[in-house]
Amino acid sequence: MVLKQLKNHPALRLLEWWLLFLAALLPLAWISWQAWSFALGADPAKEITDYLGQWALYLLWGSLAITPLRQALGWTRLQRFRRMIGLYALFYATAHLLAFGTFIIGWRWDLLQTALTERTYIIVGALALLLLIPLGITSTKGWQRRLKKRWTQLHQLVYPISLLVLLHVVWLIRDSYFDAFLYGSLLGWMLGYRVWRRLQRRLRRSASLSS
Ligand code: HEM
Repeated sequence: MVLKQLKNHPALRLLEWWLLFLAALLPLAWISWQAWSFALGADPAKEITDYLGQWALYLLWGSLAITPLRQALGWTRLQRFRRMIGLYALFYATAHLLAFGTFIIGWRWDLLQTALTERTYIIVGALALLLLIPLGITSTKGWQRRLKKRWTQLHQLVYPISLLVLLHVVWLIRDSYFDAFLYGSLLGWMLGYRVWRRLQRRLRRSASLSS
């Protein structure tokens, strides 16, 4: 009882929120420090871009993992961090685009055009990022209230977005498929779990209607 009260204490909840908020900035701090100390090897532009892209993916996958973890393992405390983690995914994806624009193509229009026409994985990545923006904007409680049922429908876009991100990664593979396999398996588990839950709910509903 005392433990439960302590766990729900507003000060502890605030502390948890701030810890996660600051922890999510650590990858950015780390890569900036590595770049500052010239520790990124022969191709720092690629290192920075890849690293920020990877963190965008980890956070996007992290936001998708919250519902299954909450439902399957009862980790209800995770729920209130979902928005922050999703917004950080958008933040890192934007930083990834900025790194690509600044360090790889130097914001040259001709190089951007070539990238967009010749490299399908860039088109797919750009589409994923474009679709993430409205989700970020409407992630507040205010938008949730305003859009009502349409909010849930809109935020279901996260599933095709995650598939686009997976495609982005699979398409740019040059050697090992291990990472892509890992990302794909995790995503398969998270999406499969939702489909399975939905089917269960539907079956239960039709069973209660027929009884
Ligand atoms: C306009 C949008 C985007 C552009 C232009 C872009 C561009 C790139 C480029 C140039 C690379 C490096 C390819 C290489 O290694 O040669 C890359 C890799 C990657 N991107 Fe993106 N991307 C975009 C959106 C996204 C989004 C939305 C995500 C995830 C949420 C993402 C995740 C990744 C990941 C995980 C990698 C692989 C890093 C690795 O090598 O492990 N990208 N992207």
